Amino acid sequence: MAGIYIHIPFCRQICYYCDFHKSASMSLKDELFKALLSEIALQQDYLGDEIIDTVYFGGGTPSILSAKEIQKIYEKLSTFFTLSKGLEITLEANPDDLDDKYLKQLSNTPINRLSIGCQSFNNRDLVFLNRRHTAEQAQESVRKAKKVGFNNISIDLIYGIPNLSVSDLERNIQTAVELDVQHISAYHLTIEEKTVFHKRQAKGEFEEISEEESNIQFQLLIQKLAENGFEQYEISNFARNKNYSRHNTNYWKQIPYLGIGPSAHSYNTTYRQWNISNNKTYIAEIRKGKIPFSKEIIDKKTKYNDYILSSLRTMWGINLLVLEEQYSKEMKDYCMSMAEKFINYGLLSIKNNSLIITDQGKFVSDNIISELLFVDT
Ligand SMILES: C[S@@+](CC[C@H](N)C(=O)[O-])C[C@H]1O[C@@H](n2cnc3c(N)ncnc32)[C@H](O)[C@@H]1O
Ligand code: SF4
Repeated sequence: MAGIYIHIPFCRQICYYCDFHKSASMSLKDELFKALLSEIALQQDYLGDEIIDTVYFGGGTPSILSAKEIQKIYEKLSTFFTLSKGLEITLEANPDDLDDKYLKQLSNTPINRLSIGCQSFNNRDLVFLNRRHTAEQAQESVRKAKKVGFNNISIDLIYGIPNLSVSDLERNIQTAVELDVQHISAYHLTIEEKTVFHKRQAKGEFEEISEEESNIQFQLLIQKLAENGFEQYEISNFARNKNYSRHNTNYWKQIPYLGIGPSAHSYNTTYRQWNISNNKTYIAEIRKGKIPFSKEIIDKKTKYNDYILSSLRTMWGINLLVLEEQYSKEMKDYCMSMAEKFINYGLLSIKNNSLIITDQGKFVSDNIISELLFVDT
């Protein structure tokens, strides 16, 4: 089993918080599209004989692709990889792209899951974040997607936005719940370097919300979503009726994946590699038949750290048998010795031979994880 990620590095407008690789100029779009098709062929051996059970179009803004272009990428993938019959194939989409015509066309492609970037249902927040759509458009896009037959829809929300009050967040959550989607990803706003927000913050134009306020908002999110049948299967991800994102769950379970496109990452259990984050160079190199990437061999400690980092954020936790059998007894003992104080504080618990973060532990998950990691002395 394996996954394929396709990166579409274009956005019609740049949001002030975002540091993903993207360009607001569409001048290279057609050339880049051709390069993506070529890279799929060039990478045909990367995953060996693995069956592909998830494909994810991420960005940037994959919904700038026409349905025809999506179909072409899918056909190219089917030529060079074995796609599973029950393939999950997700398209990240911006609400303003999802009009009736486009949605109808999308419903005739193999896309069977949409991840819609609503972010907030409050127009003041959307302006602050520099989103292209209104709160009404965000809701409408979900309703329209359901109407044409999409029955596996996720929405992205951002909380912890300056000036977002607890009651605003409560209204946002309520709206999300009423849209009756299968999945919600909710991220705390982070201020990333080289973003507009970073510059504004440096100039003192706004302040991030306090840790106390962050915790109140996170608690509200967990509580309200749980009351409405959403299971928090990962710190930022909530699903109804076990509609987990297969693609992300595979990442967290260290299942191999191939990333196509500029800045896309790949992982095959022995090494990780990442393509160059420059559209022009990416296209030029692919034209020469070369994939412009850097790579890193994953040694045992890095592998252990990756496992701890991703699994502890999930409800399945760290499987102690896996840790002993696939890593080593020393690593399992190390993990348990570091975990002991958190177990005593009630921040971690052991269930079915797995080390799991408790509800209380979720508020300090980053601190717990960092203490469980292996650091070279
Ligand atoms: C790569 S973006 C692509 C989605 C799509 N282009 C859109 O904007 O709707 C994936 C998601 O990451 C989240 N995200 C990106 N940067 C973030 C930040 N600095 N803080 C919090 N969430 C962020 C947003 O919720 C966004 O929808
Ligand atoms: S959040 Fe989405 S639309 Fe906004 S800049 Fe990032 S990738 Fe583009």
